[in-house]
Amino acid sequence: MIRAQTKIEITTDRLLINGVSSVEVWERPIQKKLVEAVVSLNDVVAEVGYGLGMASEAIQKISTREHWIIEAHHHTLVPLLEKQPLSANLIISSWQTALPMIKEEYFHAIVYDADPDDRGVFDGSAEATLKFVSPILPHALRILKPGGKLGFIDFSGALRTLPEFHVRLAKFNLDFNFVSVPINPPPKCNYARNRIGDVITIIKPNSNL
Ligand SMILES: C[S@@+](CC[C@H](N)C(=O)[O-])C[C@H]1O[C@@H](n2cnc3c(N)ncnc32)[C@H](O)[C@@H]1O
Repeated sequence: MIRAQTKIEITTDRLLINGVSSVEVWERPIQKKLVEAVVSLNDVVAEVGYGLGMASEAIQKISTREHWIIEAHHHTLVPLLEKQPLSANLIISSWQTALPMIKEEYFHAIVYDADPDDRGVFDGSAEATLKFVSPILPHALRILKPGGKLGFIDFSGALRTLPEFHVRLAKFNLDFNFVSVPINPPPKCNYARNRIGDVITIIKPNSNL
């Protein structure tokens, strides 16, 4: 849910939205792995959720054909707008509003890292992560090219073993792979409690036959 009175604070180590941590700088290595898992040379890429721009920087290092950033809170984009030249296209909107307007089979890759609607209570568990990812699946299936990829981070490292995740993917005839990445969250972090997180890549089949 996007509120009119959103308070954005960017500190040296995190982005806070309405006082709740959205992303923290210790995530940089796993954000980079997320991009490397999903984005290839010459891709048309959608990045959902700009945050501190860590994934964005990694995307910019790959020679993509188009890089689109879909970000709900325009204040988070101020540091990006101060950098020139700007080589990404910006859509300032929630993904829930933006994605239905995108042409079918437009993207090769979607880097999905918006906030869960319940960020305040989000605990990073496999169940919570499934709840976070599920709503974007039908949109991703529509706007990804055949063979295209949707990538996201699972801080629990357990989503891939959750039977409900397999059931959800089977419903859409989707396959996935993963890479486990060492992480180092601070002890007080409420959405990452392990020392290993997974980058999950969901792959749209080349054909639905
Ligand atoms: C976890 S941060 C993204 C971190 C980013 N990957 C990085 O490397 O710094 C989440 C971002 O998604 C944005 N956001 C939250 N809900 C959104 C939505 N529904 N649609 C688009 N952006 C959203 C937040 O404003 C925030 O900038």
